[in-house]
Amino acid sequence: MTTSRQDVSLGMPQLPATPYPAEVRARLDADAKEVLARYPGSRSALLPLLHLVQSEEGYVSRTGMAFCAETLDLTTAEVTAVATFYSMYRRRPSGDYQVGVCTNTLCAVMGGDAIFDTLKEHLGVGNNETTEDGKVTLEHIECNAACDFAPVVMVNWEFFDNQTPESATRLVDDLIAGRTVEPTRGAPLCSYKETARILAGFPDERPGAVEATGGAGPASLIGLKLAKGEALPKARVVSPRAGQPRDAQPHDPSPSEHLSSHDAPQQTSASDPEHPAGPAAEEGE
Ligand code: FES
Repeated sequence: MTTSRQDVSLGMPQLPATPYPAEVRARLDADAKEVLARYPGSRSALLPLLHLVQSEEGYVSRTGMAFCAETLDLTTAEVTAVATFYSMYRRRPSGDYQVGVCTNTLCAVMGGDAIFDTLKEHLGVGNNETTEDGKVTLEHIECNAACDFAPVVMVNWEFFDNQTPESATRLVDDLIAGRTVEPTRGAPLCSYKETARILAGFPDERPGAVEATGGAGPASLIGLKLAKGEALPKARVVSPRAGQPRDAQPHDPSPSEHLSSHDAPQQTSASDPEHPAGPAAEEGE
């Protein structure tokens, strides 16, 4: 079951947007002043201001866009062009938790497509639709530069790495039940509106949130370590032809050495007794 859709109407004449109530407007004016002060040119503040209005209503409404246009001396057409270009701005009321399943190529083949199909069926919603209780909006997302932890699910832009259909199902069940869930890395989860305010550039004042932000995970840092000439955990390399490791000392990494699902032992074609020939030969061989 889904909430009713409020489709974006870009071409038809519309009544002027309803203004914010006076106390909301006064609060947003004060916040916007703080945001504008960070930029030499006011129009550069458009992206954070769109996050700010999103933090008010949970999406970028026509009222929010009119506020941005007025504050930055832009036309509503200019604001609309930006708000509809970037996928981090929602254009209709949505859930408290935006559950984005990466279905870009790498995550898709590592299980992202299966996760998305499972959640779609489990929640009874399609892409960009919200559960009837208003808790969860499900959506496909593009690559979030966390391919080394594929397949990745993001909730309000926090990472849940190396997911499976089962773990993702537990995740949405916990969100709907109001149980605490911990992202794999980064700051603790907060509501979509709270996330939007942080993205507008206001400090995350929850105790320990900034410290918890951490940094890149070990799988992401391997390239940096290589560039610095630092020692790496010995990786298992499978020869495409002989089915034998290329390294002189075959190494079977223990589970504790697995930096991500990519490093876990895989049933590759080279090691699969059902397909002893290994991967197809390179062209011309
Ligand atoms: S393909 Fe999913 S994070 Fe890159």
